Amino acid sequence: MTRTYFITGTDTEVGKTYVSCQLLAAAVNAGKTAVGYKPVAAGCEWRDEAWQNEDAMAFLQASNLAVTLNEINPIALQPAIAPHIAAQEAGITISEQVIKDGLAHLQAKQPDVVIMEGAGGWRLPLGDGRFLSQVVQDLALDVIVVVGMRLGCLNHALLTVEAIQADGLNVKGWIANQLNETMPYFNQNLATLEALMPAPLLATVPYGSKPDYGRLAQILS
Ligand SMILES: Nc1ncnc2c1ncn2[C@@H]1O[C@H](COP(=O)(O)OP(=O)(O)OP(=O)(O)O)[C@@H](O)[C@H]1O
Ligand SMILES: [Mg+2]
Repeated sequence: MTRTYFITGTDTEVGKTYVSCQLLAAAVNAGKTAVGYKPVAAGCEWRDEAWQNEDAMAFLQASNLAVTLNEINPIALQPAIAPHIAAQEAGITISEQVIKDGLAHLQAKQPDVVIMEGAGGWRLPLGDGRFLSQVVQDLALDVIVVVGMRLGCLNHALLTVEAIQADGLNVKGWIANQLNETMPYFNQNLATLEALMPAPLLATVPYGSKPDYGRLAQILS
């Protein structure tokens, strides 16, 4: 049976992809088949005669399932701006069905693990009043929250978990991602979150670290 997790974060650039790749590496290291899925990406470079997104490329590298970049990232928007605005600029509509079909397509290959990364934070607009969070609700996925440990993260982390739970979804837990070598009062911030977050701390990912295979594989088992 395939286990699918949705990875959200406290903001953009908080380490969702970094942590997702470590989760994929841990799964692969544990002898599992694992694939990353980034349904909606904004920010692509023209390489090898195609528009390629960095997150999707990282997932292609970290996955051990035979898939193409397009299967990992079906909706690739060129400018690195809010996806619904990029879509509007390109004259296209971001389709929930494409996101769901893309996931079903990967799941049909029967990997042990699918790591699906959102874009931005939890309440990502898709345009016309729609949100990516509604797709995750429809799919009833377990959610893992990556907390980018920096000033302001306490409020962002608490509100994010509150919103996911209010949407009726299970927050499997959160991962504290150390975004730089030294965050002043890191331990105190971590302790504050541990006390206040209504979901368990699954792991801490230190800055520039190699994956803690054991700990991360446990999350996915
Ligand atoms: N623990 C870490 N150690 C070292 N570098 C990190 C760590 N976490 C994140 N980074 C770096 O910080 C940057 C942002 O991380 P990442 O791309 O994973 O964020 P993201 O939340 O996926 O962003 P986006 O919203 O664009 O998808 C990247 O350059 C990444 O390599
Ligand atoms: Mg990312």
